[in-house]
Amino acid sequence: MSDLTTLQQQILANIAAASDEAALEAVRVGALGKKGSISALLATLGKMTPDERKTEGAAINLAKDAVTQALTARRDVLKSAALDARLASETIDVTLPLRENPAELGRVHPLSQTWDELTTIFADMGFAVAEGPDIETDDYNFTKLNFPEGHPAREMHDTFYFNPKEDGSRLLLRTHTSPVQVRTMLSQKPPIRVICPGRTYRSDSDQTHTPMFHQVEGLVIDKTSHLGHLKWILQEFCKAFFEVDHVNMRFRPSFFPFTEPSLEVDIQCRRDKNEIRFGEGEDWLEILGCGMVHPNVLRACDIDPDVYQGFAWGMGIDRIAMLKYGMADLRQLFEGDVRWLNHYGFKPLEMPTLAGGLST
Ligand code: DAH
Repeated sequence: MSDLTTLQQQILANIAAASDEAALEAVRVGALGKKGSISALLATLGKMTPDERKTEGAAINLAKDAVTQALTARRDVLKSAALDARLASETIDVTLPLRENPAELGRVHPLSQTWDELTTIFADMGFAVAEGPDIETDDYNFTKLNFPEGHPAREMHDTFYFNPKEDGSRLLLRTHTSPVQVRTMLSQKPPIRVICPGRTYRSDSDQTHTPMFHQVEGLVIDKTSHLGHLKWILQEFCKAFFEVDHVNMRFRPSFFPFTEPSLEVDIQCRRDKNEIRFGEGEDWLEILGCGMVHPNVLRACDIDPDVYQGFAWGMGIDRIAMLKYGMADLRQLFEGDVRWLNHYGFKPLEMPTLAGGLST
């Protein structure tokens, strides 16, 4: 075997063995570079006789072509192997769960949702929102609302009292939102049209009572408002809130010291196992108390009952939230269990609107 053939085979073997493009480049430089082995052979052609050059020259050029071709082929192979390796290392595992958008994290508590829903509905009817303190005087919580001292209706409220002051008076945690009626009438002139959502407190705890709960009060005072208006407002509210086309309501006579006449309102419903449907069925559910504001209350709030009249109502926010969203135990509303909140809660950016839907 001639030296040239041996050299060519050696170079071709090195090309085949080159494991990456850098190693292949080293083989190319070793063979075809300025000082490469094949370049060196080509440089000897000048010193040969024309005949030698013909045969030797052709042989060396054939070897050079063979090496060049082998280099190109090997480079292609190494290039595509490098690409495959890169693709393999950069694959995305599409089975991983998507990260939740930060704007979607957290949940709005069903009570806050219900609060927003009902203020949206009453605001649309022209009601303003009025607020008062959780710690009240006995005078605003009871006396000005026509609960005389020692009246048995006071006992029914299971009141949390603070220690008596030196003058014997005692502050208390308001037992209903009705004192906000008093504060509103003392600070505004009629016509008055407000709702008063807020926290209320009574010493009571079981599946349907918690020591802290929520009410929304409504108050309308002007010269001509009557029970017909009240009925329309409550009907429109129930339709909008429960998101149904019609509701049947039942007004029953009742007693509250601060209204005369006083009524309790039930809505018609059907209870199917865990679900309640409104506007159909045989059952009735009590949802609120209401009535015409008692003349004694108007007088206590510096409003002349011979000129002005009006109506009021009080409703449990927790109760209507539980009815609408199918929650069985009131206490769960206040346990702060994240799993419960994820199930019953609402997405943070979805504000209830009448146009866009209250709870969708
Ligand atoms: N304050 C009453 C309660 O807590 C609810 C209520 C009934 C409020 C009738 C009213 C009303 O304004 O007119 O039980």
